[in-house]
Amino acid sequence: MTALRHFLEIDDLSPAELTDVLDAAERRDPPRVLAGRGMALVFEKPSARTRSSMELAVVQLGGHPVSIRADEVAIDVRESAEDIARTLSCYHAAIGARVFQHDKVERLAAAASVPVVNLLSDHEHPCQALADLLTIRQQFGSFDGRTVAYIGDFNNVARSLALGAAAVGMALRIATPPGRAPTAHDVDRVRGAGAEMLVTHRPEEAADGADVIYADVWASMGQEAEAAARKLEFEGFTIDDALMARAADDAVFLHCLPAHRGEEVAASVCDGPQSRIWQLAENRMHAQRGLLVWLLERAGGA
Ligand code: CP
Ligand code: NVA
Repeated sequence: MTALRHFLEIDDLSPAELTDVLDAAERRDPPRVLAGRGMALVFEKPSARTRSSMELAVVQLGGHPVSIRADEVAIDVRESAEDIARTLSCYHAAIGARVFQHDKVERLAAAASVPVVNLLSDHEHPCQALADLLTIRQQFGSFDGRTVAYIGDFNNVARSLALGAAAVGMALRIATPPGRAPTAHDVDRVRGAGAEMLVTHRPEEAADGADVIYADVWASMGQEAEAAARKLEFEGFTIDDALMARAADDAVFLHCLPAHRGEEVAASVCDGPQSRIWQLAENRMHAQRGLLVWLLERAGGA
């Protein structure tokens, strides 16, 4: 048995471990590491993809997923995050949680005796980044010499993508409106991973020659009240055909979804020939299955 590992941020895995997880994700005959065991999935926010893809990944590994809505456990309202983690550890081989404040998932992990997986926090969405990397590797065969351009709000999805892309050696371009850019700490982390990173307020500069153009919503979950103001703030950041034309000839468009056609992406791009959004959505399940195999083999219970 080796030390218990959690997956709260994409760089909780070393570059070599990330590759191992991506390789495990490609296996269609995975070891049934969850046979007769459960995984608890706690959701403080809605989910279409993460819940279904994680539930199915658990089933494919022989396990039983138990999805729990926030109001059913009410973290820190009915009971502390620590006691919820200790309780769920009594029954389950792993715990996943989608939370608002990132420190909640950290506290769950600190108290749990089984691996904890971040299913999205306000800070990071590492499961999404795993699927992003899997999709990019499938598209190009490797990460060598590839550049990812993220255009929009530097949010949870962007942070995990940037750190993940840096870990596997890709170059990064980030285009945001002023005030929505990565912090100096974010930039240090990405450059510290050895990546080339351009930060700009000009989407065209980010898109020029890029291999992957990536979008997420302008207003994330919990920011619904800011949606109208953000629409004005992000004017000019819509990924449209003109912007795609600046990318490499074989560039692809990715979006974590849900997408708002006509806002962060034009319908013609989102549903166009360069879009790989449905491959990416499917890859959520494969990537998470690979992650669970990797985590559970290390937790010693496989
Ligand atoms: N991309 C993603 O995490 O989707 P859901 O919010 O629907 O889970
Ligand atoms: N940034 C978005 C991602 C949704 C998958 C959000 O947090 O709502």
